[in-house]
Amino acid sequence: MKGLVKEKLPKHLAIIMDGNGRWARQKSLSRIEGHIKGIQSVRTVVTTCRELGIEFLTLYAFSIENWRRPVNEVSALMGLLQRYLRKELDKMLENNIRLRAIGDINSLPPDAHDTLIDTVEKTAHCDGMVLTLALSYSGRDEIIRAFRRLVADIKNKRIHPEEISEETLSNYLSTKDIPDPDLLIRTSGEYRISNFLLWEMAYTEIYVTETLWPEFGKEDLIKALLNYQSRERRFGLTSEQLAMEPD
Ligand code: FPP
Repeated sequence: MKGLVKEKLPKHLAIIMDGNGRWARQKSLSRIEGHIKGIQSVRTVVTTCRELGIEFLTLYAFSIENWRRPVNEVSALMGLLQRYLRKELDKMLENNIRLRAIGDINSLPPDAHDTLIDTVEKTAHCDGMVLTLALSYSGRDEIIRAFRRLVADIKNKRIHPEEISEETLSNYLSTKDIPDPDLLIRTSGEYRISNFLLWEMAYTEIYVTETLWPEFGKEDLIKALLNYQSRERRFGLTSEQLAMEPD
């Protein structure tokens, strides 16, 4: 793709897909129609990331807070999720995409939950790209649940408090097999991380675009990736120190 340097692509791209409702309102459509159009953007982004060779893509599809939306919107989103998974399974297998989910997925309606588990299981052998959907997800909830497991292991004497490091906590999170995101894209001009991957995003580069999610296409994704490639990631070091580090 023009101008993109393969070696400098993010290994892990995370996206907060925002603006479906505003897009629908602008077009005098229902919010649900906004989400339906949003799924087209999901397809475009997944396909493009796979083509580019991005190894991990994580999409914030439904937050714990989203349960408070009107019942009809919540059930439409769950129905859309289920339909998306059913429709895309063959394409995921064809393109060697492994689906994973993070979040409190046991709280999903049984149909959506079962379709999700089925897709996760059927794509478990794929190793071309890991597509993770954050569903009924909240970063703080994730940390609390990790903490509970950690405390249980302390009680069982499987781990001693002095041994706890950043790596220890990372290993108790459901993202433990996924590297921290290199880049977060948020659409619709909001400058927030909204309880997404709180622990994992300590050093993530953030890119915010005014484009609403249903209008976010291949060109927008490339633009975000080009912007990312122009940045210097210092991880707390100085530019001079970085220049002296071996590649
Ligand atoms: C934010 O737009 C979007 C969501 C809460 C859900 C995202 C869901 C999809 C793109 C469709 C389903 C996803 C998958 C993976 C099948 P908003 O409704 O908050 O927009 P607004 O802020 O303009 O109201």
